[in-house]
Amino acid sequence: MKILAIESSCDETASAVVENGRILHSSVILSQVEEHQLYGGVVPEIASRRHVEGIEQVVSQALTQADTPLEELDGIAVTAGPGLIGALLVGVNFGKALAYQQNLPLIPVHHIRGHIAANYLVYPELTPPFLSLVVSGGHSHIVLVKDYTQFQVVGRTLDDAAGEAFDKAARTLGFPYPGGIYIDEAAKKGNPATYRLPTPRAEGAYNFSFSGLKTAVINLVHNLEQKGEPVIKEDVATTFQEIVVTTLTDKLVAAAKEYKQDTLVCAGGVAANSGLRSRLEQVAQQENLKLFLPPLSLCGDNAAMIGAQAFYEFQDGNVADWSLNATATVNLEQGFSK
Ligand code: KG4
Ligand code: ZN
Repeated sequence: MKILAIESSCDETASAVVENGRILHSSVILSQVEEHQLYGGVVPEIASRRHVEGIEQVVSQALTQADTPLEELDGIAVTAGPGLIGALLVGVNFGKALAYQQNLPLIPVHHIRGHIAANYLVYPELTPPFLSLVVSGGHSHIVLVKDYTQFQVVGRTLDDAAGEAFDKAARTLGFPYPGGIYIDEAAKKGNPATYRLPTPRAEGAYNFSFSGLKTAVINLVHNLEQKGEPVIKEDVATTFQEIVVTTLTDKLVAAAKEYKQDTLVCAGGVAANSGLRSRLEQVAQQENLKLFLPPLSLCGDNAAMIGAQAFYEFQDGNVADWSLNATATVNLEQGFSK
């Protein structure tokens, strides 16, 4: 079954052709990041406009690169939520029109379910159940993936998402948006003994809270500036990243023990973080757990992951009718299940 997938939930217009949830035929991503960089974050109105301008070209490139004419498709998948409502609407409406015109099933996909499914494209041996750490710009979850379309949220962030914390810390240090990658690079050269930052605490064994840590970075930098002392960005980045990585990894491993899972799967933009990847590899080896990390190309937003999840949603009967709308907030456990 060949599915054309469309993703437009934030600032990437993306389309891909995926077969049977596992074989990637093409993946095209048009990023708007340079434009949003001017404002230090995503401007929703600009995002929607750029999606409108780019979507037709991105979809046709995905079809051309996959050498798949429209007639060979068996379904159209769209990210229907969560995300920026105006941005989502562009992909949902484009996909809906295409599905209607071609008389194909329209498959709505939950963005976070998609992030997890990115791993299916590179690891044929990976099948549920497993425990997933989803860390992106908007979400931080520990999720028990019981089956392809059955999810149990075991832990979540109570305030800022991990990526958001990275981006805000980066901004405080004067790095461009989105700053996760700059913190990652700076952290490699830093001295962890220079500064101290607090370890975040959150209610609930597997929940996260990163807003206090973010504020602590802001206060640290302001205090140094007020005293006329230099801010050693690399050293702040190392200390900050170390705390985020330790928090995420410790909770994930503890949850794996409680829920008796021996397979860990990482997903989302922050899964690209080199410190997180190497720590997860280290603990997986220590604890004798299997670990699946998505390749860097599938960590950030893309449509390939949406096409992968869509296959399993379709098999479960989760097909939309022509009244499908975009939804800014959607429960991961509920998804777009019928
Ligand atoms: O999954 P994603 O592309 O978009 C959302 O669904 O939110 O995640 C984007 C987030 C941003 O916050 C970005 O700074 C972060 O992922 N990110 C990183 C790295 N690469 C991207 N964070 C830390 N280290 C990285 N190497
Ligand atoms: Zn995402």
